[in-house]
Amino acid sequence: MQIEMREQADKVIARCRYLAQFTEEPGQIKRTFLSPAMRECMQTVQGWMEAAGMRVVTDAAGNLRGQYPAAASPSICLGMGSHLDTVPNSGAFDGVLGVMMALALVEVLKNEKLPFAIELIAFSEEEGVRYSLPFIGSRAVVGRLDPALLDVQDARGISLGSAMMSFGLDPSRIGECLLGGDVAGFLEFHIEQGVVLESEQQSLGVVHAIAGQTRAEFTFTGLARHAGTTPMRLRHDAVAGAAEWVSEVERLALATPGLVATVGDLRTHPGTWNVVAGQLRASLDVRHGDDSIRHQAVDQLLAQAAAIANRRGLTVDSKMQMDQPAVVMDARLCGLATEAIRSTGISPLSMVSGAGHDAMIVAERVPTTMIFLRSPGGISHHPDESVRPQDVENALAAGLAFLRSFASYCAPLGSKEKNTPHA
Ligand code: GLV
Ligand code: MN
Ligand code: MN
Repeated sequence: MQIEMREQADKVIARCRYLAQFTEEPGQIKRTFLSPAMRECMQTVQGWMEAAGMRVVTDAAGNLRGQYPAAASPSICLGMGSHLDTVPNSGAFDGVLGVMMALALVEVLKNEKLPFAIELIAFSEEEGVRYSLPFIGSRAVVGRLDPALLDVQDARGISLGSAMMSFGLDPSRIGECLLGGDVAGFLEFHIEQGVVLESEQQSLGVVHAIAGQTRAEFTFTGLARHAGTTPMRLRHDAVAGAAEWVSEVERLALATPGLVATVGDLRTHPGTWNVVAGQLRASLDVRHGDDSIRHQAVDQLLAQAAAIANRRGLTVDSKMQMDQPAVVMDARLCGLATEAIRSTGISPLSMVSGAGHDAMIVAERVPTTMIFLRSPGGISHHPDESVRPQDVENALAAGLAFLRSFASYCAPLGSKEKNTPHA
């Protein structure tokens, strides 16, 4: 089994690297929601899932969903998976690794059926790149993809609803994406994307909580004027005002323990050398494990933006894109993951995730846990992102132990009333 696990681990890594070819930007990995690159990636993953004995469908939100049947039906079901979309200039493992891990575990079963079914979900959208709206795939499976969001437009003016239709999806069927009532737990594998496991020289971690996030867009508006002829003291420069505010964002986060705040995207208008910018749009991403500290920080940054704009003769508008509360993972399922890892001779670290994950959305509906794999150098959202074969092998062994014990975990749930499993 050990040799087989090493081979599976090598296969998982090779597959992640293979899927990196499906990109919408030659020379880098960029795969956004419903892009042609995503379609090609999904076709490849679907082929692998079917070869592993799964019945695979694409749901109305573009999630690829594979069902691996139980030994007998009706049965409960274990959900597993992660996302296939990426940030621009991404690495090969964020999200994709979790999908490939789940697939590899099903393959290790070699058609042996367990007392529960497995649903592998390759989520269509987690990063929020195309629509500044993360978790589109996972929101759909918990019934929280508000139909009003179908009107949101991407940078090219294509609405979410029409992008879905062009991809061959039917937005009126979003309601059918809901996880079945038979799903009794969800497990997501993911690279840590940080330095904690590496600095503690640990291979694996179990995530017991995920930090909450705010995403907001700020638009600073001033006056676009000639860069050569407009005296400095008569300018209403949107970029200069926003720059002052960005410094405040950094200062506040440095002064607040546990707070991270990022302005990762700045777009100027008209955006050229010889024009004082009349407008600047800035993204703001704020995270903390304690929602009240995060909310306080966001209020303070809103007030500072208004004060800076006022002093400089600018206006500022802000649009909240997301207020995702911090999420605690299911204690029993985390215990099961911890025991599964321990049974392979490894002591897992108990961790809080600063990164957002599909698991935090799925947790709204079913007991959920996550297993983190060490990220070499803590590098993620970057082409140098990687994972060690030994850590993947360890995670596969732990995953198999988790599958072996999940049925007994579910036994006490067996008596609970269930919703109708989805078709
Ligand atoms: C997802 O990668 C996020 O945490 O933004
Ligand atoms: Mn990511
Ligand atoms: Mn991810």
